[in-house]
Amino acid sequence: MTAVTIPGLDKAPTNHAGLLSWVREVAELTCPDEVVWADGTDAEWTRLTGKLVDAGTFVPLKKKQNSFWAASDPTDVARVEERTFICSLDEADSGPTNNWMDPAEMKAIMTGLYRGSMRGRTMYVIPFCMGPLDADEPMLGVEITDSEYVVVSMHIMTRMGDKALAKFGEDAKYVKALHSIGAPLEDGQADVPWPCNDTKYITQFPEERMIWSFGSGYGGNALLGKKCYSLRIASVMARDEGWLAEHMLILKLTSPEAKVYYIAAAFPSACGKTNLAMLEPTIPGWKVETLGDDIAWMRFGEDGRLYAVNPENGFFGVAPGTDYHTNPNAMRTIAKGNSLFTNVALTDDGDVWWEGMGEPPAHLTSWKKQDWTPDSGELSSHPNSRYCTPIDQCDIKAPEWDDPKGVPISAIFFGGRRATTIPLVTESRDWQHGVFMGATLSSETTAAATGKVGVVRRDPMAMLPFIGYNAGDYFKHWIEVGKNADATKLPKIFYVNWFRRGEDKRFLWPGFGENSRVLKWAIERIEGKAAAVETPIGHVPTAEALDLSGLDAATADIETSLEVDVEEWKAEIPLIEEWFTKIGDKLPTSLRDEFEALKQRLS
Ligand code: GDP
Ligand code: PGA
Ligand code: MN
Ligand code: MN
Repeated sequence: MTAVTIPGLDKAPTNHAGLLSWVREVAELTCPDEVVWADGTDAEWTRLTGKLVDAGTFVPLKKKQNSFWAASDPTDVARVEERTFICSLDEADSGPTNNWMDPAEMKAIMTGLYRGSMRGRTMYVIPFCMGPLDADEPMLGVEITDSEYVVVSMHIMTRMGDKALAKFGEDAKYVKALHSIGAPLEDGQADVPWPCNDTKYITQFPEERMIWSFGSGYGGNALLGKKCYSLRIASVMARDEGWLAEHMLILKLTSPEAKVYYIAAAFPSACGKTNLAMLEPTIPGWKVETLGDDIAWMRFGEDGRLYAVNPENGFFGVAPGTDYHTNPNAMRTIAKGNSLFTNVALTDDGDVWWEGMGEPPAHLTSWKKQDWTPDSGELSSHPNSRYCTPIDQCDIKAPEWDDPKGVPISAIFFGGRRATTIPLVTESRDWQHGVFMGATLSSETTAAATGKVGVVRRDPMAMLPFIGYNAGDYFKHWIEVGKNADATKLPKIFYVNWFRRGEDKRFLWPGFGENSRVLKWAIERIEGKAAAVETPIGHVPTAEALDLSGLDAATADIETSLEVDVEEWKAEIPLIEEWFTKIGDKLPTSLRDEFEALKQRLS
């Protein structure tokens, strides 16, 4: 058989034999018109954004330089958890929380779907690096995709193109990430602005460190460096190598005495990570700078402390609710341009708008590309609409955000969205108790994933959709990380809830910049300065222990937000029991012990 000739296939800018043969294999399977190696240059950005404008996928924004508006297919708006699989060789390694299919069976199905799936399109090969390029061992990957939208998004979200390819030694290891929107074009067939396929698979093959994604062009389903690599695959690497890959923001907090602390925080999708990462403290003298808003890779340094690195290069933030009052730093970052906006509304003068941005204009084009007025009776922007913008242009990025060494973490926050039960902040008694808090974390579901919104579910360490292996083994790994470390150097673990509601359903705690008061209390706990009450669930501040100076909120509300209601907690017990039963035999006994101790303290 003679080798198929596909234009561009022989123009590979690398000698990496494994990579070349994989690219050839994929091209022969998917049959694109052409193969293009993404170089990451500005010229490439200009060419591809231009192509997307011509295709009707992008509308250039008149009010923001070098920025574009896109509306996805209305069926392709969020991560599809029910179509996400961990195809480990042994089903037990996928565990009770992931979808599993035998890898050979999955490969057969998906190979069938990929056959000819890029016909009529260009296949892009994107070399990329998660985390700093000058790391001792750069974390490399290659995404093959037939979506220009993905290529330009990867320009923002990752270090990619020639500068990443330069890190590929002859036998460099890298994560293979294959993506197709699954919308081949027959000769003469007209394209649509957002091609995708009703059949979707987001598949991880953990042992092979490989990702196959089909059918979706949006967010975490398609930008494979993000959730698929940096969380699902990286969590497996982290288990094997003794580190942590977590769904966490990283922030730098400087006190009025110029003391610096780094904090990592895990909240489920659309529960406040990006906002906390960029927070503007309302308490005088405190400063926040940001290092990352979604993912943290944490390894022990030579000094025994846990150091965090953000693998990403951009922010992929929830748009609705973002404005100059809630998150001014995000607004300033996107105001500089060089950004993509997906599924928000378009204003008549060529800017973006979304719910939460103040008074709506009299007329908009909605994310569904329909005329929209304030009387339309529906949202102008999808609740999971997003801005995609480079970290580098964020005014409050910490200078060390790109340092391969990472930053030493003093505190880890776990948090969720709970209308009841969970106090504003609780300090764990020790690492093991903190792991129990994380392992039993619960939150109301949001629009970041398809499915019902507002249902309370367990979301351990905010990683439920992202743990690349068995959740019981994941808990064991967290326990062991603590056991192997010097306890005095481990971060202190806290549990927060910005979303507790009063009887009239309003939020009890004002949130956003006011969350700096909670950060301050946590730091003062670490320094041994702040007071707390010992409760059955951990150490909780009284309203007096928090710095509430100048806060415009009813003291009664703050007190209620801090309440540990034993009856509410007793109602939580059967839910935790059910959750631990689901985890099954792999649940570490230490977490079972923590649970028994909690029950004792509540009775
Ligand atoms: P992420 O997806 O975890 O990064 O969450 P975001 O920071 O993007 O926030 C998701 C949604 O929660 C947005 O609509 C925010 O306006 C809202 N939000 C974030 N922080 C707070 C807070 O402290 N209080 C309240 N009430 N809402 C918040
Ligand atoms: P976020 O990230 O919602 O946590 O910002 C995207 C996602 O989880 O889908
Ligand atoms: Mn996320
Ligand atoms: Mn976010």
